[in-house]
Amino acid sequence: MADRLISSPDKLIPVDIHGFRNATRDINFDVYLRLSEENVAHVFSRNTGLDYKRLAQYIQRGVTELYIHPEDLERYQSFIARPAHVIFTDPDTPQEKKIASLLNMTEQNMAEIFTQVHMEEETAGNAQRLVKSYVDLVTQSPQTLAIILKLVSHGEYLYYHAIAVAIFSMFIAKASGQFNQRTLELVGLGGFLHDIGYTQIPRELVYNPNDLTPDQWKMMRSHPKLGLNMLENTKNIPDEVRYIVYQHHEEPSGQGYPNGLRGPVIYYPAKIVSLADSFSALISKRPFRPAYSVEDAIGIIQAAVGKYDRDLVKVMVSVFQTRARGSRMAA
Ligand SMILES: [Fe+2]
Repeated sequence: MADRLISSPDKLIPVDIHGFRNATRDINFDVYLRLSEENVAHVFSRNTGLDYKRLAQYIQRGVTELYIHPEDLERYQSFIARPAHVIFTDPDTPQEKKIASLLNMTEQNMAEIFTQVHMEEETAGNAQRLVKSYVDLVTQSPQTLAIILKLVSHGEYLYYHAIAVAIFSMFIAKASGQFNQRTLELVGLGGFLHDIGYTQIPRELVYNPNDLTPDQWKMMRSHPKLGLNMLENTKNIPDEVRYIVYQHHEEPSGQGYPNGLRGPVIYYPAKIVSLADSFSALISKRPFRPAYSVEDAIGIIQAAVGKYDRDLVKVMVSVFQTRARGSRMAA
């Protein structure tokens, strides 16, 4: 990281680090971290914005204050007066901006999850609130799907994948006609958290799963169990979400993992998340292959007999084919 040491830290003023937790990424001032009495590091700049992952690491390390220049105080104050959730609920804010602020909050939340070995209650509570906002978007705003589809291939894969799977799962669940507001939220939260076990596996394996040794594959395939462990003592997470996290790689044919469960035994929302998971992965660009088009992704999923619930595949096709056509026409 290009942290620049500057002298005379006594001219800077301290501000609460937690003010940045609910904020959007864009800042129009510079932010510093105190390293010692004499030294501060320039950690976030007006040009590059906040880095949520580093922010989460500072908080995890017990940092309570960051520093700004006195002349930026007004900018800082107006910045914290409009946290992401205020932007999100402002009726006059355009839909695209709202979604952007929701993604900001989500990225921030994911960054915190990534620094935790066991999910903390506050983080879990925030994840639930986020997914509630997603439910609102999914139920009230049909253009959400098109916007999310555009966003998926950008940004850090696991973050956007988590968001995409949450959204896609909720769309499929809603189209299946078997879910109400509460159960839709559970599916969304399960979709959001399904891969959190990967945060406990070395990054090189997760981001480039090519030519893995049998032992490395075994480790990768332990991510549902690792995810379950992470949620073990988090009271804010309902059991339904644990089933989804633990079963999202089971397949109706019995060829899935970790337990090779067969069709009817697999928890229905886990089947939905499994489908949304594959779809999101296929339409994302990965280091080892380009992104598939929506049509090709649907074709690949339809051809994988036994891997997914057949009726749910039909529901998924109805959701994405119409939406994909709609968004193209709108573009
Ligand atoms: Fe997974």
